[in-house]
Amino acid sequence: MSREVERTWISIGDTPYYRIRQGRVNVSGEPIYMGSRRTNLNPRHAVKHAVIVGASGGIGQAVAKAFAGESWRVTSLSRSKANHRGRDSATHIAIDLKSVDSIRAAADEIRAQDELIDCLVNCAGVMQPDVPSHELSVTDWKAVIDVNLTGPFVLLTELFGRLTKPGATIINLTGGMGRFSLGMQGGRFIGYRTAKAGLNAVTLALAQEWGPLGIRVIALDPGWVRTPMGGSDAPRDPGEIAREVFTIADDGLGDNGCLLSNLRPVMW
Ligand SMILES: NC(=O)c1ccc[n+]([C@@H]2O[C@H](COP(=O)([O-])OP(=O)(O)OC[C@H]3O[C@@H](n4cnc5c(N)ncnc54)[C@H](OP(=O)(O)O)[C@@H]3O)[C@@H](O)[C@H]2O)c1
Repeated sequence: MSREVERTWISIGDTPYYRIRQGRVNVSGEPIYMGSRRTNLNPRHAVKHAVIVGASGGIGQAVAKAFAGESWRVTSLSRSKANHRGRDSATHIAIDLKSVDSIRAAADEIRAQDELIDCLVNCAGVMQPDVPSHELSVTDWKAVIDVNLTGPFVLLTELFGRLTKPGATIINLTGGMGRFSLGMQGGRFIGYRTAKAGLNAVTLALAQEWGPLGIRVIALDPGWVRTPMGGSDAPRDPGEIAREVFTIADDGLGDNGCLLSNLRPVMW
């Protein structure tokens, strides 16, 4: 089978198409092209595409609704189905961040959509059992690290090729329990706090590596939010966080490699 060596964008009217040049040439020495394919992958395509991870509940669900309400196309990811009304073209893909196979299968499905990503928001997260550190089982340690840190990182690397769109933004939900500048306060919850500090580190490291390619990588500390994880006493509403996330993505607020809280840069 011949290999794709170049993709050429063409427009017929306003409709984007691409054609693929293969490695073979014809008898005259001219490159052989596959037929034109209609696509949304054209960087000039108008509808923006957000991938929201952890969109079935809490902050992620509010974020997915905010983007869908602003006519972005939303691909939502979580284990259970997300409910975000909006464009008919909204898609849900099942993913379990504890499983690398599941992450790769979800990334394959996203790549099959044939569309670049304008914004990816990592909202998925789990809390660990409330036990002293010396009683935390290795299984529970691994689970909280996998969902909050390893899974989001693997997904980002899997989707790197879809994020290479000028102005693409990655927003990682981290939190005060992983901030060294706040003294890593919180008591207990060592696995969760380590995972969030690690996701801050991933944010900064990827910002340095991917920033020069035009990708903004930003961490967001949402504060204490009323969700299944945050509980009903929390002062902040998930909708407030969703507006912050949307502003970061759509208005370009926040420099590459920063940590934001209430839309202001703060210390890690
Ligand atoms: N709420 C707060 O006060 C607060 C404070 C600071 C930081 N944060 C962070 O903000 C983010 C959102 O928190 P939240 O309060 O909205 O939490 P939440 O209400 O518990 O929602 C968590 C989301 O993560 C998904 N998720 C959990 N395990 C998963 C897995 N194995 N694979 C894929 N998805 C999984 C859940 O969907 P499924 O169960 O359907 O998979 C759900 O959509 C988290 O990263 C959290 O750490 C929250």
